[in-house]
Amino acid sequence: MSYITMTKEQLQKEYALQTARFDACKAQNLKLNMARGKPGADQLDLISDMLGCFVDPKECFTDGIDARNYGELAGLPVARAYWADVLGCKPAQTFLGGSSSLTLMHDVIAKAFSHGLLHSERPWCKEETVKFLCPSPGYDRHFRITEFFGAELITVPMTATGPNMDVVEELVKDPQVKGIWCVPKYSNPDGIIYSDDTIRRFANLKPAAPDFTIMWDNAYCVHEFDGEFVPFADIISLCEEAGNPDMVFEFASTSKITFPGAGISVMASSEANIAYLTKMFGVQMISHDKINQLRHVKYLKNKTHTLEIMKKHASVLGPKFRVVATVLDKEIAPCGFASWNAPKGGYFVSLNTMEGTATRALALCEEAGVVMTPAGATFPYGKEPADSNIRIAPSLPPVAELEKAMEVFCICLKIAALEKLLK
Ligand SMILES: Cc1ncc(COP(=O)(O)O)c(C=O)c1O
Repeated sequence: MSYITMTKEQLQKEYALQTARFDACKAQNLKLNMARGKPGADQLDLISDMLGCFVDPKECFTDGIDARNYGELAGLPVARAYWADVLGCKPAQTFLGGSSSLTLMHDVIAKAFSHGLLHSERPWCKEETVKFLCPSPGYDRHFRITEFFGAELITVPMTATGPNMDVVEELVKDPQVKGIWCVPKYSNPDGIIYSDDTIRRFANLKPAAPDFTIMWDNAYCVHEFDGEFVPFADIISLCEEAGNPDMVFEFASTSKITFPGAGISVMASSEANIAYLTKMFGVQMISHDKINQLRHVKYLKNKTHTLEIMKKHASVLGPKFRVVATVLDKEIAPCGFASWNAPKGGYFVSLNTMEGTATRALALCEEAGVVMTPAGATFPYGKEPADSNIRIAPSLPPVAELEKAMEVFCICLKIAALEKLLK
């Protein structure tokens, strides 16, 4: 029965029931974690044959290059061709990073602040104010990068088709607005795929700042866990067609294809941007780990084969996301105070509970031994005015633990909502 239509007496009865369930869970001294989008050990086991990939030192040579030595700062040609195949861009538009795409994102922003980007009139640190658009709910680590360099973070509401583009188009008229964070496919945490219209409007933006930059983090570009691969437009060529060739930097990595923290990452952009940044990266390093690049290309081969490997991940991830949906449908849907998404890819489920109760619900989770992403983390500065959005990350725990964690989570959501209604 919906909590919203319950009488005070009914609410009190329900509260007694849920607190008894909560106490019983607490007595079990649980230690469960649904905080971050980490693959489970079962997923990593499925691709660990990659560890035995290299046997013969002769395999370290490709295109006349010895991967064991310095050189090829932008990456081995085979690795650049691999990413171009996956992202649908050209090899010359790619730059291979180390094991983390987040580092590449950080470095682009750092270089914008210290020296400026290709079209900057001055380094961003010389600007009186730098504003950065943060579609929210979004990825906390993105927001933290721009906060770290002193940018003012501006919340842009998310819609079912991506960031609210009316708001974005209005905000970019301000020359102090220097960029926007985007996770265009299976957004973190909403699991939204930006619509064709949203992508077209991004490519056709007319920002006042000449160096306005779209940080297009395509972290979940091949990460379907339910159904077939969903093709996705190449933002780089769309920006080029729209007369904005240098406006976008795209990012991706194999963190959730092979091993998180031990994969390979990529930045893709116009050839002019790649040339400009390759020169700057040349100041901080000689070359990245090409042996790992080669190992990855040998194992992943191409986009088609990568999609086959992603099916292995889906075989583990799919059932976990189904647990989340099943428990929420059973426990929360009848109560009528929360809504959530049902993504077919990515690593998260985003839930909006009764306003003003997310912090309390997560405090209860912690008390019962279930660690969740902190309330507010999906908004700039870690603060959500409505105190409603919660990110569920179901990938790490085994199914049995996840079922328990979800049960506890739902009880905590209910108690926090009931407390508010009974006030
Ligand atoms: C949207 C998004 N981008 C980037 C990352 C991290 O990527 P990497 O391991 O390549 O730094 C994550 C990890 O959860 C993510 O959700």
